[in-house]
Amino acid sequence: MLSIRTQFSNHFNHNPDLVVKSPGRINLIGEHTDYNHGFVLPAAIDKYIEVAIGKRTDGAIHMVALDLGETIILPINNLSPHATQWVNYIIGVVDQVFNSKENNVDSIENNTPLNETKLVAGFNICVQGNIPLGAGLSSSAAVECAVLFALNELYGLSFSRMQMALMAQAAEHIFAGVKCGIMDMFASLHGQKNKAILLDCDSLAFTYYPIELNDYSIVLFDTQIKHALASSEYNTRRLECEQGLKIIQEKYASVKTFRDISLEQVEVCLASKDVSGLKVYQRCKYVVEEILRVQLAVQDLEKGDMQAFGKKMFETHTGLSNLYEVSCPELDFLVEAVANNENVLGARMMGGGFGGCTINIIKKTAVEEITKALSAKYNQAMHKELSYYITSIEDGTHLVS
Ligand code: GLA
Repeated sequence: MLSIRTQFSNHFNHNPDLVVKSPGRINLIGEHTDYNHGFVLPAAIDKYIEVAIGKRTDGAIHMVALDLGETIILPINNLSPHATQWVNYIIGVVDQVFNSKENNVDSIENNTPLNETKLVAGFNICVQGNIPLGAGLSSSAAVECAVLFALNELYGLSFSRMQMALMAQAAEHIFAGVKCGIMDMFASLHGQKNKAILLDCDSLAFTYYPIELNDYSIVLFDTQIKHALASSEYNTRRLECEQGLKIIQEKYASVKTFRDISLEQVEVCLASKDVSGLKVYQRCKYVVEEILRVQLAVQDLEKGDMQAFGKKMFETHTGLSNLYEVSCPELDFLVEAVANNENVLGARMMGGGFGGCTINIIKKTAVEEITKALSAKYNQAMHKELSYYITSIEDGTHLVS
């Protein structure tokens, strides 16, 4: 296959100014906690989006999605959400950099240079990647981070990685319409080889944890389900959590976020018999349990107790499936099928839900056999092919020399 540099040159008749790679992510534990001020434990992986970028001087953006064979050209001024979703991941961050007053970066100090830059800031860009789309591995965040990082380098904008994560998150809210948390962008930008990152989604402080799996591998099983429900249900979960938080705050004034809520308070304020009340109760119970679980899971990591860690992954799955209700029959099937396998330390659905992948910690010597057996079972039960990815943990967004 031709390199992205060559493809860029072939398309635009000039060499790119730079090439950036931004990875997809896994999340070991801490699901649907990022937008609830909890903790997450993601890591960047060996699947990437690559962009090649070169300046133009006419204020136009020429975008080429190499894998799709599509080209879109837009003026850089007055960007608004586009009917083609991949375009939104690019122009959403462009808008954050050059136009938006809605970006949630507090300390962009270089407004004047940005406005001046904007006048000449057209660019050509090619995008390609090997992160499976809709598999819950954050290909969209990887596109956003790659483009932001490239613009940051190209125009010497001096945004920090955390600022870029916040800008990419805002872009996803405004242009892609998903009210996501910060985990995916954060992980893509901050990944380090063989390390998971505990992110406190309240303070945005983070700590790297070496992941030494020795005889074990991280294996992702891809349901091949891309649920149309995912983004609307995602936004609904977010609202249900906000509703529950508000009810609890009415009784307990000291509660600022989910971090301050005890399980007892959830019981006192939310245990309810009517249907919509029951949902709010279940969502909040799950979130409070999961925030606690991540903190305990990190202690397991510190002790090197991967058995205990894996057990918590299964507990997370049960919560996501029964209380948070973001699983689907295919994800449940894949987790249940390995639940009593002595060579599987932990398994659970990963990411937003309603499809995508399960994450599994499997003994290296058993990966082949388990994958083979599971593929056959899955095919028989769900009439779908199972894909799988044995993943390694890699560095975050970087320039390619
Ligand atoms: C998606 C979102 C993240 C996070 C997860 C669930 O990946 O983009 O912000 O909320 O779902 O943990």
